[in-house]
Amino acid sequence: MTLLNPGMLAVRRACLSLLLLIGLALPAAAQSNDTTVQTAWRLLDYIAVDYREAVADGRVINQLEYDEMTEFSATVGEQIATLPSHSAKSALRRGARDLQQTIADRAPPPRVEALARDLAERLLAAYPVPLAPTATPDLQRGAALYAAQCASCHGTTGRGDGPAGAGLDPAPIDFTDADRARERSAFALYQVTDQGLEETAMQSYSHLSTADKWALAFHVGRYAYPAALAAQGRELWESDPALRARIPDMEALAGLTPAVLAEDIGDDQAQAVMAYLRSHPEAVANAGGSESLQLARDLLAQSLAAYESGDGAAARELALAAYLEGFEPVEALLAARDAGLVAEVMQAGSVRWRPVSPPGGRPAT
Ligand code: HEC
Repeated sequence: MTLLNPGMLAVRRACLSLLLLIGLALPAAAQSNDTTVQTAWRLLDYIAVDYREAVADGRVINQLEYDEMTEFSATVGEQIATLPSHSAKSALRRGARDLQQTIADRAPPPRVEALARDLAERLLAAYPVPLAPTATPDLQRGAALYAAQCASCHGTTGRGDGPAGAGLDPAPIDFTDADRARERSAFALYQVTDQGLEETAMQSYSHLSTADKWALAFHVGRYAYPAALAAQGRELWESDPALRARIPDMEALAGLTPAVLAEDIGDDQAQAVMAYLRSHPEAVANAGGSESLQLARDLLAQSLAAYESGDGAAARELALAAYLEGFEPVEALLAARDAGLVAEVMQAGSVRWRPVSPPGGRPAT
């Protein structure tokens, strides 16, 4: 069959409109990019990850680390103080003081970690900065960028053993270090790539595009996971709706540390799921409702196939199902993004989608 009849065109058109809408389900463009917030967030993240190396049993076990924790927590307080006014600001400043005091008291690591994480979360809630990629990270590009710009220090396999890293103090991070990786979200890796780390050889790569930095963050975030684990992670992901609900979108994936996921599903499963999703971020829906849109896509594809095989009735039923089961449940959400396009799709569906004779088949009902 080479020529498209009008009915066919209508189906094609509706598919295309729906696909356009599905594209709209991506998170809205980046919000205000406040370096102060990002810096404070990164310092809090560091405190949460590194404090355990500074204090044990109420005693300082590494003076250098401990001094850093003290300094970082003071800086967090200063940074928050400079932020524009907000109803949450005084509570955030109190939180920073509490954290500082807790570190001064050499409190147990879980306590400091919890305070730092909580403050980091509340900070972002009050002063949002972009937390997630707006498109699925391109891991092939991430790998190429890594080989060209990072491997010299971090090593071709991420072990931190590149020639340019030899003798550096601090040494380049070994991305295969499983304990460290447990505490790293893709967002945290993104932040360091974007901002660099003062007083270390890790420079800022802020000149790279946002998409490139996310590609790098996901790429380096894969090194801690043996490739074999990804297959197991995929099985878990595909068989467990609760798990998919736990990580409903890119933002959830980008902000999630393996350690936090492990609290919900256990360490082994968390490792496997992270192995899969860090290397297949496309598996995660890009926005709320996109599982629903995936259903719409699948049903539309089936509708088109039915139509092409001459079964107009089935095609129509499937197209209707695509609308009712996949599209309609998220219509309001999509309309909030682009009401005009939603209206256009509705029109393509209702006006042009008339029963017509399928190509060379029996007439549609
Ligand atoms: C000149 C050497 C050098 C190059 C090149 C380099 N890094 Fe680094 N990187 C470092 C050092 C050193 C550290 C560790 C600093 C520390 O321990 O505080 C680091 C730390 C990091 C971290 C923090 C990881 C963590 O767990 O906290 C990330 C992420 C990172 N680098 C990403 C990159 C990426 C992506 C590139 C390439 C675009 C890159 N680095 C290029 C030296 C380098």
